[in-house]
Amino acid sequence: MSEPNLKIAVARRIFPALIDELRRRYDVRDNQDDASLTAPALAARLADADGALITAGERIDAALLAVAPRLKVVANIGVGYNNIDLAACTAAGVLVTNTPDVLNEATADHAWALLLAAARRVTESERWLRAGHWQRWTFEMFMGADLHGATLGILGMGRIGRAIARRAQGFAMRVVYHNRSPLPAEQAGGATWVTKDELLRSADHLIVVVPYSAATHHAIGAAELTLTKPTAVLVNIARGGVVDDDALAAALRAGRLAAAGLDVFEGEPIVRPALLELDNVALTPHIASSTRATREAMARLAMRNLEAALAGERPPSLLNPEVWDNRRR
Ligand code: DGY
Repeated sequence: MSEPNLKIAVARRIFPALIDELRRRYDVRDNQDDASLTAPALAARLADADGALITAGERIDAALLAVAPRLKVVANIGVGYNNIDLAACTAAGVLVTNTPDVLNEATADHAWALLLAAARRVTESERWLRAGHWQRWTFEMFMGADLHGATLGILGMGRIGRAIARRAQGFAMRVVYHNRSPLPAEQAGGATWVTKDELLRSADHLIVVVPYSAATHHAIGAAELTLTKPTAVLVNIARGGVVDDDALAAALRAGRLAAAGLDVFEGEPIVRPALLELDNVALTPHIASSTRATREAMARLAMRNLEAALAGERPPSLLNPEVWDNRRR
């Protein structure tokens, strides 16, 4: 159905062919130059919008909602939505959606890429090689940590955590995990629930996958990093702020951890110099779900959510269903 009177604001450059599909039905204002939108620029863009397609880089809060009176739906292209004040959206009658599931496998693959890179010193040794240091081969060069047969700890055994755990079977790893409560056996897939302290103590390597919230802020901080094994690799693919990056850098410097693999950072895109200076950290710029197929699936799901909401249908991944009866129309 064509709704040329409905205005859609697209906050970032997103596959032009997909946005053209939207344009056939709605009045679309896109951002194909991918200009960074400051908070006032985003507010100006949303001022007369009925729907918004946004990413983790855009913050939606009460102040913005107050100057976007027509906004009915915020479709986040991403599963994490700590960039959105959900309570403020609910109070304002604005539907919020995200893109779960379609990115589970790509994100799990990337967690493994970082775990392998950090444990086997892939990025560190590559930097050394490129810098021209390889004059002769030595028997003990760049000895890393074993993954096969080791115990993998997963903090946050949700859909992505479980996809990570499935891959551990191929490495003959024992998997322990911590969630608020244990999963039913059929979901745990052979992984064992342990307390958080036990997880930190027993994991040979630890992957952090919990969503960011006030409750998970610095879930891995200085105190937790006294419990981890000095031979352990820590991987964060969750969100910046779940790990205390200053405490992590200090622990790595002090040898309280062997290495880290990080895709997300507190205050990104700025990365703590203390982390950049360390050789034993593999770093990627928040790309865990970034494969072409997955990014496309995320964009398509976000568009489906947006279009359903504007057509008066319940979007497939609605985050605040309680707002449905009182939603802005
Ligand atoms: C997600 O889906 O939450 C990714 O981190 C991209 O924002």
